[in-house]
Amino acid sequence: MKILVVGSGGREHAILWKLKQSPRVKELYCAPGNGGISEIARLVPIGATDVEGITSFARENRIDLVVVAPDDPLAAGMVDALADAGIRAFGPDRKAAMIESSKVFAKNLMKKYNIPTARYEVFDNSDEAREYIKTVPFPVVVKADGLALGKGVIICNNEKEALDAVSAIMEERKFGQAGKRIVIEEYMTGPEVSVLAFTDGKTIVPMVSSQDHKRAYDGDKGLNTGGMGTLAPSRYYTEDIHKKCMETIYLPTINAMKSEGRPFKGVLFFGLMLTNDGPKVLEYNARFGDPEAQVVLPLLENDLLEIFEAIIDGKLDTINIRWKQSAAVCVVLASGGYPEKYEKGYEIKGLDKAAENPDIIIFHAGTKKEKGKFLTNGGRVLGVTAIAENLDNARQKAYAAVSCISFKDMHYRKDIGIK
Ligand code: AMP
Ligand code: GLY
Repeated sequence: MKILVVGSGGREHAILWKLKQSPRVKELYCAPGNGGISEIARLVPIGATDVEGITSFARENRIDLVVVAPDDPLAAGMVDALADAGIRAFGPDRKAAMIESSKVFAKNLMKKYNIPTARYEVFDNSDEAREYIKTVPFPVVVKADGLALGKGVIICNNEKEALDAVSAIMEERKFGQAGKRIVIEEYMTGPEVSVLAFTDGKTIVPMVSSQDHKRAYDGDKGLNTGGMGTLAPSRYYTEDIHKKCMETIYLPTINAMKSEGRPFKGVLFFGLMLTNDGPKVLEYNARFGDPEAQVVLPLLENDLLEIFEAIIDGKLDTINIRWKQSAAVCVVLASGGYPEKYEKGYEIKGLDKAAENPDIIIFHAGTKKEKGKFLTNGGRVLGVTAIAENLDNARQKAYAAVSCISFKDMHYRKDIGIK
C-alpha cells in the first residue's frame, strides 16, 4: 500500500515509524515532513493545511490511504475533501473534529450529556463577560473558542488578569477569529493525564495513559509550550480511575457524538484532570497528541495500519489491541528561546551515538537534512524516546541518550518522567 501522512512534527514521525513496521506498507509519503522523516518516507512539498494540494497529490499518485495528523487540516475538512474525491482517509470529518476546533461546542456537548467537566459560561459580548467576571471566585480560566496553537487558554489569578484576558482575546483578537467567543470556566486542580483512544464512532479503545510536561522549564515553570516531554503510562491513572472514565467520560462522549449526528472516527484525545470530585475533562483533541504519540505508539504491539483500516471500515470491535508491559519516556530537545524567539539552522551532532541503544528511538520535529547533515529548523527539534521495564529506567535511558546529542543553544527539561 501507498500511504501519505499529513504533518511535519515528532507525532508524524512516530506514526510513520510505526506504519513502516507493517508488512503491507510498500511506500510511505509525508507532506511536508522533516529531516528525520525523509529517512523513512518520500517528502512531498505541500503544506499540511493545503486541502486542495493534498487531495490532488493523493489522486494523481494513487495513494491508498491518507492519515491526517494535525488539528487544523481536520478542522478545515481535509478528510471530507479526500472522501469526496474517493480517497480513503484516516481522521475525523469536519463535523466531528469540532469537538476540538470549538471549545464552546465541546463544553455544550458535555453539559447536555452530563459528562464531568469544569462549570462554565459562554460569551460573545465582551461587556457581558466583564460583568460576569465581577461575580466569580479566582483563579478563573478564560479560553478562546477556536484553535489557537494551544495558547488560547489563560489562567487568571485575579480580576485584573481576567479583564485583560477578555480584552486580549475578544477585542485585540490576539488569536484572530478563534476569539469571537470565549468560555470562562471554573479553575480545577489535580494531576493531569492524557488518554488517547481509538474509536470508529461505535467502539472505543483507550490507549495506554500518558502525561505531558507543557511548561518550558523544570518544575513546571516558564511559558506553556507544545510539550517538552511525556511519559507513559501515568502513575496516577489506576484501574479504578480507568473504569470510572470509561463509564462517565469515554463511552458517553462517543455516544453523544453519534446522537448529535457527528460520529467520531479516528483518535480522540481526552485531556483529563483527576480532581477530588473524580476525573473531569479539561479538553478534547481530535487527533494524536504531540509528544504523547512519541511514548504511546512505541508501546503498541499491533499493526497500526490494521487499526486505521478497521476504524475507517467501522470494524474496530474485531481487533484485539495489545500493549507492551513496559514504560516509555520522551525528552524533547528544543531550540534555546523556544517557545518565544529562537534561531534555526544549527548542525545537530551525536544522533548516531544516541541511537546505538536499541531501546532508544529518536523522533524528529523541527529538523531538515542538508548535504547529509541534520540542521535545526524549528522550536521543538527532537524527541528522544526510551523504552524500559519501568518509568525510572526509561527516564535514565532517555537522558543517557540525550547526553550524546548537541546543537547550539540546545534546551531541554531535566525532570521529564519524575511526576
Ligand atoms: P487546554 O488547551 O484546554 O488543555 O488548556 C491548556 C492547559 O491549561 C491545560 O493542560 C491545563 O493545565 C490548563 N487548564 C485548562 N483548563 C483548566 C481548568 N479549568 N482548570 C485548571 N487548569 C486548566
Ligand atoms: N501535547 C498536547 C497536544 O498535542 O495537544
